[in-house]
Amino acid sequence: MTTDTRISNPRILITGGAGFIGSRLAAALSTAATVTVFDNFHPQVHDGNPENRDRLARHAITVIEGDIRDAAAVADAVARTRPQIIYHLAAETGTGQSFDLVTRYNDVNVMGTAYLIDAIRAHAPDLTRVVLAGSRSVYGEGACVDAEGRPTPAVERLDADLARGDFAPKDRAGRALTPVPTDATCVVAPASIYASTKLMQEYLLSQAFWGSDIAVGILRLQNVYGPGQSLNNPYTGVLSIFTRQIVEGKTLNIYEDGEITRDFVLVDDVVAAFAAMGLVPRMPREIIDIGSGEPATILDVARRLLGLLGVPQDRYTITGAYRPGDIRYAVADITRARDALGWQPSKSLGQGLEALVDWSSETMAVAGAGQEA
Ligand SMILES: NC(=O)c1ccc[n+]([C@@H]2O[C@H](COP(=O)([O-])OP(=O)(O)OC[C@H]3O[C@@H](n4cnc5c(N)ncnc54)[C@H](O)[C@@H]3O)[C@@H](O)[C@H]2O)c1
Repeated sequence: MTTDTRISNPRILITGGAGFIGSRLAAALSTAATVTVFDNFHPQVHDGNPENRDRLARHAITVIEGDIRDAAAVADAVARTRPQIIYHLAAETGTGQSFDLVTRYNDVNVMGTAYLIDAIRAHAPDLTRVVLAGSRSVYGEGACVDAEGRPTPAVERLDADLARGDFAPKDRAGRALTPVPTDATCVVAPASIYASTKLMQEYLLSQAFWGSDIAVGILRLQNVYGPGQSLNNPYTGVLSIFTRQIVEGKTLNIYEDGEITRDFVLVDDVVAAFAAMGLVPRMPREIIDIGSGEPATILDVARRLLGLLGVPQDRYTITGAYRPGDIRYAVADITRARDALGWQPSKSLGQGLEALVDWSSETMAVAGAGQEA
């Protein structure tokens, strides 16, 4: 059953809409929709980073400042906006941090989603779609093949293997596997508290609206990066963290053997994918992977950033250290995104890194000048 049709000038509510992705999404949608943002301006994300708040103001977007853990505030925001489309982006987002802040991650990501569901049921009679910012982290080690090229599930990597520098994903019998790009046919196997909460968000929304007129769409995002990602938040955004460290003259510490592989997708492309989910005449009721589809090792991107910032390309240390929840290889198979949304990445990693470096050099120069004044 579906009532999905294209709505003209829809009322849209974006939770977490003041964030890195959300504020750009709000701005992009505001030309053809009435957009309201619900966000608590989490200090870890927003302190020292006024750009996103300014963007919302420039586009005259209504902002409701509130916490997703506050059921009454969420209900009130939904009742006031009577949304036709909701994008659910509000979340705690640090993989490593999630191991230390288990309750907070569950309260915000899991209970916050539950409060949103209650609010929708009580106050959103016109709602047709909910789009969740899902995460590739739900795949854990992701899709792999064995020595004969047969698809084989990987298990969580063992502390003992990692401690002796054996970083390869393995099957149940301990045989090394080769990772390959992942799509939603891959089994889920979250390897961190963050990933577990992101998977719960998917389950809660899909189950709550199963069989209803409200379509739930999930975009599982790879590593989103680009100009505007907080340079101050130590818990997310490896490219922003590296950029800041390089500009500050630090030596980059690179985990494992430098061959951890990620799929870096530019924030503008992610915004385009979200916009497509909201505005296509029939939203795909399925899980769609969003990434560049291009593997890049952490060592490779570190060297590229050092080069772009004019710093000797050997200013890094491969530490051999490893972290709980870090997975070895994450790259999206973006076939579904191309087929179902007509979406594809618009820029190469090289172009995106240049844009990030230009923006961060400017931002840090301005911040430095402000401190000197
Ligand atoms: N950036 C990535 O690489 C990436 C990858 C996969 C998934 N995602 C998902 O995309 C979404 C947006 O991520 P982002 O990169 O824009 O992060 P972000 O931290 O910039 O944005 C999250 C927003 O949520 C808000 N928020 C946090 N806790 C809240 C609370 N208790 N109540 C209300 N608002 C709260 C923050 O203030 C922030 O504005 C998240 O759901 C994240 O899990 C991001």
